[in-house]
Amino acid sequence: MKGVKINRVGFVPEFGYFLGLRMVTLSPELRARFAVPLRIGTVELKSRVLQSPLSGVTDLVFRRLVRRYAPDSMMYTEMVNATGLHYVKQLPKIMEIDPAERPISIQLFDCRPDFLAEAAQMAVAEGADTVDINMGCPVNKITKNGGGSSLLRQPELAGEIVRLVVQAVDVPVTVKTRIGWSDQEINAVEFAQRMEDAGAKMLTLHGRTRSQGYNGSARWEWIGKVKQALSIPVIANGDIFSVAAAVRCLEETGADGVMCSRGTLGYPFLVGEVDHFLRTGELRPTPSPVERLQCARDHVQMLWEYKGDRGIRQARKHMTWYAKSFPGAAELRGQLAVIENVSQGVDLLDRAIARLAELDWHGFEAPEPELVEAQ
Ligand SMILES: Cc1cc2nc3c(=O)[nH]c(=O)nc-3n(C[C@H](O)[C@H](O)[C@H](O)COP(=O)(O)O)c2cc1C
Repeated sequence: MKGVKINRVGFVPEFGYFLGLRMVTLSPELRARFAVPLRIGTVELKSRVLQSPLSGVTDLVFRRLVRRYAPDSMMYTEMVNATGLHYVKQLPKIMEIDPAERPISIQLFDCRPDFLAEAAQMAVAEGADTVDINMGCPVNKITKNGGGSSLLRQPELAGEIVRLVVQAVDVPVTVKTRIGWSDQEINAVEFAQRMEDAGAKMLTLHGRTRSQGYNGSARWEWIGKVKQALSIPVIANGDIFSVAAAVRCLEETGADGVMCSRGTLGYPFLVGEVDHFLRTGELRPTPSPVERLQCARDHVQMLWEYKGDRGIRQARKHMTWYAKSFPGAAELRGQLAVIENVSQGVDLLDRAIARLAELDWHGFEAPEPELVEAQ
């Protein structure tokens, strides 16, 4: 193995794939586990790799891009406020789904069981395959009104919510939560069991506490403990930024599936990459900077067509996430962050694509590897 040169992605027949200096192999056990469809109550998913709900991100346009590379994966809408739905009685744009996009879950948040049940019925009428209840959001604005992760401190109410929503709809009801409120209040196992007893058909667990926010590492060991305790499927979430991380998480936790979140910001390829590897044991080639910018170009155009000027304002943050890891990226990010209209965005991206093509730029080389041992 000494002196073997690898790029970002390399393959050595007896040992498997290397990502940078990390090696990733698909064990026969994991491959067999992933060959079986995931059953969520009456719904069957062909893929066990899911795209998480991300407020301000996973709108219809973003989901369409993710689905290009991950046609069978479950997508989630941004979280929808059930109280808002009760009073407005009109579907907000974030709840819109394309009849062609399946499987799809609509995620709701609130603390009122009756409003959530009513909202769940609206979600089903809109075409949701499952209804997910957010019990993990750490944001003050949500928790101070009793929603999101504050339900971890009110397990009885959380159970009541699930029971009532299950009675209200004939699609599976699922829950997405965290491991606890704080280090002093980790109650993932009891809480998850309560959700299962109340009728939840799947539980997604983000391996952080509410106090952690998005800091520190996701504690996958708690996902493993919850998996051991439940009969319904458990989906692992938190710090899945690469194929290697997904494989490691699944091996460490024994979870039934994996959900990608921040790793997809400016990188709608991730869910498809993980899914492809888990099905085939082969790594998809990493998209080049030019391919990423071409995707960004589609993204800004689609946002403009779908949301007009509001779409352009939202596109600014997406564009800056795409513009990374190539010469001139920082300058491009600055310019994309202030675009006023679609043609400005497209023009900047076209010029950057042409510049990279001229440089014949295919990405930064991985650092020179030292000895890479099979793990
Ligand atoms: C910008 C942003 C928006 C999010 N919006 C939601 C949401 O609407 N519903 C939800 O359940 N979780 C939401 N989350 C949490 C993620 O779905 C996920 O649980 C979390 O980011 C942990 O995974 P990661 O470490 O791989 O990012 C959001 C996270 C971020 C960063």
